[in-house]
Amino acid sequence: MRILITAGPTREAIDPVRYISNRSSGRMGYALAQQAHARGHEVLLVSGPVPIASPEGCRKVAVESADEMFGAVAQNIHSVDAVVMSAAVADYAPVHTAERKIKKSDGDLVIELGRTRDILAAVRDEFDFKGLLVGFAAETENLRENALEKMKRKGCDLVVANDVSRRDIGFDSEYNEVIILGADGSEEVVSRQLKKVVAGAILDAMQYCAEKK
Ligand code: CTP
Repeated sequence: MRILITAGPTREAIDPVRYISNRSSGRMGYALAQQAHARGHEVLLVSGPVPIASPEGCRKVAVESADEMFGAVAQNIHSVDAVVMSAAVADYAPVHTAERKIKKSDGDLVIELGRTRDILAAVRDEFDFKGLLVGFAAETENLRENALEKMKRKGCDLVVANDVSRRDIGFDSEYNEVIILGADGSEEVVSRQLKKVVAGAILDAMQYCAEKK
């Protein structure tokens, strides 16, 4: 399969030196890219800024903001068979980015934030992509229910649900524990494992899904 994987956080610029971002390390997406390549898939990694070396054998497009990530996905989606959205895309970005560094003043600073576009939701609605679609759901409560709702709303074949309130897995960790939910009602719990093992389980689920599609 040719697989497009989004990974890492996005950075939304406030001014030339400041930005809004999140705690995503990019490790889950990079582990997926590495494992997918090892299994013989062709990988395109669309990555936000992370301090990890590019996985060998994968083509990488580096982006910063949610808007740039949207553009990179739009440009490449019709040359792949499967899309995995593991990036932690910012939901809000400053409405205005100052051209010069904002100088401090005595009062408070109010930054107006506007919604970014939802890249995963656009895959079916805007890009009309018919291939295999895997979303992630980062939740701090009602993991299963929220993930199932996201899967339906965004037209995913599979959704990988993880509990980001736990410090021992997920964001900023080498480990993850996930539930892989399928649009066909399937459910697989992958208990706390190295992210490369979790990546293998996700790829197995994708393979199974692709064969049935
Ligand atoms: N996602 C995306 N573009 C966005 C926001 C999210 O592509 N602007 C994708 C993520 O890559 C992930 C999925 O949507 O695959 C779910 O992301 P998540 O942050 O869990 O949920 P949201 O849809 O942002 O909803 P909420 O923040 O309300 O939980």
